Amino acid sequence: MVHPRAHDMIAAVRHTPQFQPGRYRCFDLRPLSGALGAEITGAALDRIDEPLMSEIETALADHLVLAFRGLDLSPEAQIALARHLGHVIPWPYAKPMAGYPELTELVSGPADINNFGGSWHTDSSTFGTPPKYTLLYCVTCPPVGGDTSFANQYLAWDTLPETLKAELEGLRLVHSTKRGFGDHSRGTGSSAVTTTPVSVPPQHEKLASAHPVARTHPVTGKKALYVNSGFSSHFEGWSEAESEPLRDALAAHGAIPEFTCRVTWGPGTLVIWDNRCTLHYAHNDYRGQNRTMRRAVVEGERPY
Ligand code: SIN
Repeated sequence: MVHPRAHDMIAAVRHTPQFQPGRYRCFDLRPLSGALGAEITGAALDRIDEPLMSEIETALADHLVLAFRGLDLSPEAQIALARHLGHVIPWPYAKPMAGYPELTELVSGPADINNFGGSWHTDSSTFGTPPKYTLLYCVTCPPVGGDTSFANQYLAWDTLPETLKAELEGLRLVHSTKRGFGDHSRGTGSSAVTTTPVSVPPQHEKLASAHPVARTHPVTGKKALYVNSGFSSHFEGWSEAESEPLRDALAAHGAIPEFTCRVTWGPGTLVIWDNRCTLHYAHNDYRGQNRTMRRAVVEGERPY
């Protein structure tokens, strides 16, 4: 349930990724919505250098989600780009792409019913140090459908009532693979009906990490709501049943349409997003068609 005054609160908060013409020298940037996201044109990703990468990181801090179009990005080039953003880590829940341990192919085939990433989530919040960035590259996609939506979690935090924020400041939430990939999975990666087989290796079976509900972004210093319907299980010290109403209300609040932008893919589109302050949701509206994405994730810090 969304807070009854959510829309007043949304109106009262200035959306943060303000457009500043002329801020970037290495590319042009066009915001995708008033809430977050930007499309980048003119970035020479085939000649990566320090000024370009530094501006990409600044744009990520400003806009949270960046889309680059019309690329011809080899697996090697995707890994090289990801390495410029930090330590690229393998993803333990699916077999890596053949020959590329740092890449995962997310494949949806014509027979699939569920899709990968089809619930609002942030990547691998079950890890002690969840990925800070995800780089998702589109190899093939349907002509229509298969978009990905993103939601700005700074706005989600800022628009909560002050009394609730005060309550939440001290709370930690347990994020668990059981929820994301177990019986209660809502499609974050449910393996039975997607072509990408997702399974939790035995050492990760009980993998669960407790993170603050209000997380501070290490670059911007701003607070973001860190709750997601994909993996968040229960508040530390509370049972799952006790946690459910507040957890679900916060997760729903985080996905209010005014906090979102939507990216339409095409072959050669690359999207980089910051998992520390966003949620994302892969739309499952392309039944009977193929969609193949290549994903790299860059390790982040322990949330605080
Ligand atoms: C993901 O959840 O990481 C993948 C999202 C997508 O395929 O759109």
